[in-house]
Formats: sequence, structure tokens, C-alpha cells
Amino acid sequence: MAPRNTPSLVSRLWVFIRPLKWILLLACILAGMKAMSGLGLAAVSRWLLNNYQSLSTQELFRIYGGITLFLVLLLITTYFRVYFPAYIASSVIRRMRRQLYRHLQRLSADFYAQHQTGEVVSRLTNDITLAQLLYSNVIINAIFDAIILSTAAIYLVLSYPFAAYAPILGTCIVYGVLMSFFLPRMRTRSRQVQEEMGKITSEVSEKIVGMKVLQSFTHEEIAGNVVDERLESHFFESLRMARLQSLFSAVGQTLPEFAKLLVIALGIYLILQARMTVGDIAGMILVLGHIFFPLRRTASMTAEIGTSIGSMDRILEFFDAQPSVTEAAEVVSLPSLSGRVEYRNVSFSYAQDGESRVLHRISFEVEPGSQIAFVGPSGAGKSTIMDLLSRFYDPGEGQILIDGVDIREMSLEFLRKHIGIVMQDTILFSGTIAENVRLGNPEATDAEVKEALENAYAMEFVTKMSGGINSRIAEQGKTLSGGQRQRIALARMFLKDPRIIILDEATSALDTESEQYVQQAFHGLKSGRTTLMIAHHFATVKDVEYIYVVEEGRIVEEGTMMELMEAGGVFRNLYDSQSAMLAIESTYPV
Ligand SMILES: Nc1ncnc2c1ncn2[C@@H]1O[C@H](COP(=O)(O)OP(=O)(O)OP(=O)(O)O)[C@@H](O)[C@H]1O
Ligand SMILES: [Mg+2]
Repeated sequence: MAPRNTPSLVSRLWVFIRPLKWILLLACILAGMKAMSGLGLAAVSRWLLNNYQSLSTQELFRIYGGITLFLVLLLITTYFRVYFPAYIASSVIRRMRRQLYRHLQRLSADFYAQHQTGEVVSRLTNDITLAQLLYSNVIINAIFDAIILSTAAIYLVLSYPFAAYAPILGTCIVYGVLMSFFLPRMRTRSRQVQEEMGKITSEVSEKIVGMKVLQSFTHEEIAGNVVDERLESHFFESLRMARLQSLFSAVGQTLPEFAKLLVIALGIYLILQARMTVGDIAGMILVLGHIFFPLRRTASMTAEIGTSIGSMDRILEFFDAQPSVTEAAEVVSLPSLSGRVEYRNVSFSYAQDGESRVLHRISFEVEPGSQIAFVGPSGAGKSTIMDLLSRFYDPGEGQILIDGVDIREMSLEFLRKHIGIVMQDTILFSGTIAENVRLGNPEATDAEVKEALENAYAMEFVTKMSGGINSRIAEQGKTLSGGQRQRIALARMFLKDPRIIILDEATSALDTESEQYVQQAFHGLKSGRTTLMIAHHFATVKDVEYIYVVEEGRIVEEGTMMELMEAGGVFRNLYDSQSAMLAIESTYPV
């Protein structure tokens, strides 16, 4: 992605800070006061040095009393000068994380197929943390510095001859030129550094999730080397960035020193010409501090500024990602669903350009409350057919209807509320069992949760756990067995009570006892609901009313189990080969 042009970046940064505009205004007023008190001190010092001979001790005391007031003002305004930016930045960051997370929740499955988990997490955490600096330092400092610089400039112009402040003016111009040269380069560099960091996060988080597999293949050495390579390129990118930064800092910090010497030299010349006094020069050097401090600070922070702009670019890129599945402007609202499902000539491709189709003109109908099954070889497109029903993706061609209404005309919430999916691999979240089951209905009482677990044949093992339904389970349900995880997932469905059930049967076989429980639970769940199941084990399709055989994205056969067996086609072949496998396994148990 090409870096955004600066005006659009500024307006997009402003969006996040706009709700805090009154605090920002207050902060600016305080910054103005701080600038005034600093300049006031410089002006008083100058006057004292120029007039000390004509002052009485009493007058001196009175003046110092006045100066003390300035100091108190400086103390208070400096406190808020530091506190307000921190407050504003923290608020902006909170808002940005909240909005980005909510935005991520709206994005469709294709976004998550394109971006690795670690990369997404890295933008939400690392990048936003780095972008915080843009608000705490860059924007706010820029406003404050502009106030301080302009106040100081007005003071200098009004009370000093041009020759005295010309070097300062020159320095500011040179600074501007330097910034416009270095900043875009740093921004590009920093984007590269962050990109490398994102890759490291993705690489490492993926490896950590799959640590068991890596260890079982004794792949640690090779995996470690891959991570090393990533770290290496991050290191070199960082060094390139550091060189750029060092150069700018060196020039940027030496420049004010040079300017100061020039001011003194010119000052001496002006004193000799009797156009200025020593007091004027001393006062001017005090003002110089106020002018050069922001410039020096900018020089030392350019790398960070570049980094945070780079991070902001990456964050905005995610904000700009649009969900590919969107709701119709006007949704058809239905009071309830009876659960009649119809696919009409549905074709689909995962590729954006519609190339390499995964589904070809799929058509079928399911009457409310009846059950159908899809069977077919791995990669045939069975899971894809199901994903289209919940609108994780939209078909390229054709229509999917529920109760005669195109699902694209329903609200996503309504549609998904009425469809229950039991996925091929069960996903549980870290938390208690009850929390996981309540995903089906957040308002469910403990009694309802228990009933759902009962229906899913899960209560038997849950009661054995020390905390009952409040027992904690690890991330991804790692502390449960495969069969237990599936039963928790089914309990979730009982609580959700959808009209349509999709069951993508687990490919890995469970042990016989677990399998029996899961089957019983599923049997209870599907009664009275429209059920679309993907069967991997032929034992489970026996009592299904109608079966579709899918091969390479096409429905190649359909019928009842009896009809398909008699036809002796693809289904019969699949059935026979699975039976043969089972026969071998029972003769030579593994
Ligand atoms: N997110 C994706 N992006 C691109 N291609 C995909 C994606 N998901 C699946 N595919 C491809 O689509 C085809 C159908 O996959 P699908 O998951 O629907 O098969 P399946 O019939 O469910 O297989 P299995 O029985 O192994 O679960 C496969 O060739 C697969 O490689
Ligand atoms: Mg599948």
C-alpha cells in the first residue's frame, strides 16, 4: 500500500481526537499560558539586567515577588502540559482499540483467511501502542510548539532588531526543509520495520499454538532458524532506520548550537554599535531556549514520529477493509422461521476474480424439520456449501433461500440467530463451562445451562469436575477430551435452540463410548429442526432421509441410502471402501 498523503492522514487522525476537542482546547490555552509565563520570565530578566542600577532593594524584592507568581504559574501550567497530552493519548488509544476490534468483528471470513492471527493481533496491540505517540507527542506537541514558537516570534519581532533574530529565523527554515526530507523516508523505513515485526509475531504465535506438533516432529531447530531469519531481517531494517535517525538527530541538534553562537556574535556586534545591551542578549538567550527546545525535541523524536505514522498507516489499512458480506439496505423482517432451505444453482469461488470454482450449480431443497446429509471425498466442497448458508461467504451465482426469502435480504443477526453450527473442529474459549455454553444464550439461568448440558449428555462428566458447571477450561478447551468438547458445543446449540442445524461431523473418530454419547446428543438436537449434516462416517447417515453425494463441487448423486446403495455409483464405492477399512481395523486393531 502506498503511504497516504499527509492531509488525509491529518484528517483521519483528527477523527479520533475530535470527541476530546474541548480538553484539547483547554490544553492549548494552558500551553499558551505556559509560553507566556516562560517569555514573561525572560522579559523580566532582561529588564532587570538593563535597569538594576536604578532600582532600590525594596523595589527588587517586589519584583522578585512578582517573579515568584510567574514561577507558580509555570509550575501549574507545566503539570497540565504533561498531564493533558497523556490523558488525550490514552483516551484516543482506548477508542481506537475499541473501534478497531468492533470493526474486525464485522469483517468476513475472507479477511481472516488473508491475514494471519498474529498479524491482526499485532496491529491491535503493537501498532496502536506506537500510534499513541502520534497523539501524545506529535499532534499535541505540534499545537503547543506552534503556540510557543509564535508567541516567542511575536515577542522577538516586536522588541528586537531584525539582525538579532535573523539566525533563529534561518534555523527554523533549515529545520522545516530537513523535516520534509527526512520524515517521509523515516515513515517508509518504519513501515518496513513494523511489517517485519508483524511477521515475527505471526511466525511465533503460530509456532506457539502448534508447539506440540513441532516438538513431536523434533522440528524445533528448523523452526528456531526460521524465527532467527525473521529476527535478522527485522534487525537490519531497524539499523537502516537508526542510521537515518542518527543523521537527522546529529544535524538537528547541532544546528541550534550553531545558531546560538551566531546570535551571540551578532549580539556583540549590535552591542558595539550601541543598538543593544548585554541585558537584551541575556534575555534573548533565555527566549532561545523556548524556541530551540521544540526543534531539538522534534529532531530527537523523528524516528518515533516516523514509526508512529507507519503504524497509523497500518491501522487505517485495517479500518479501510470492508466486509465482503454486507447487509441489504432494507432487510425483510420475518416474525419467525419454519426452516425450509433451498439452494438454487449456487456457484462459488474463494478467489476474488471468480476463477477456480469450488462449487458448481448446487441445487437442493430441504423441507422444514427434515434431515439431509452430504457425503463425498475430502475437499469436495461440503463445508463450503454449509458456510454459504450462514453467509460467511456469498455465492458468486445463484440464490439461497430460507422460507422462500433470499438470505441476502435478511438481517445477518436474524439469519445467524436461527442457524446453529456444530463445526468440524470444536472451538471453545478459555473461561468456565457455563460461560462457554451461554454463548448459545447469554441470558440463560444456571438451571437452563444444566438442562442443556444434560441434553447434550455432558452433565455426566461436568458433575465429576470439582467446580461443576463453573469449572474453568483452558484456551481452545485444551483440558477436555475431543468427545467432551463436542458435547459442550452441542449443549451450546440446545441453549441457542435454532430452527436450522448444520453439523459438520468431526473427521477424527472418537472412542466408541464418546461417539455414542455425541450421537445420542445430536439425535436429540436435530429432532424437529431442519438438519443439514456432513457425514464422514457412514454409520451416521443411516437414519437420514435424503443424501447428496458431492464430488469436486458438484452434486453427482442423490437419493435415500437404499436407493444410493442399489444404484452402485460413487456412494456405493465410498461406502464399500469405508466398510473395508473398518473391517481391517477391527481385525487388526490399531
Ligand atoms: N478459505 C479458503 N480459501 C481458498 N480455498 C479454500 C478455502 N477453504 C476451502 N478451500 C478449498 O475449497 C475446496 C473445498 O473445501 P471444503 O472445506 O468445502 O471441503 P470439504 O468437502 O468440507 O472437505 P473435508 O471433507 O475434508 O472437510 C478445497 O479444495 C479447499 O482447498
Ligand atoms: Mg469440511
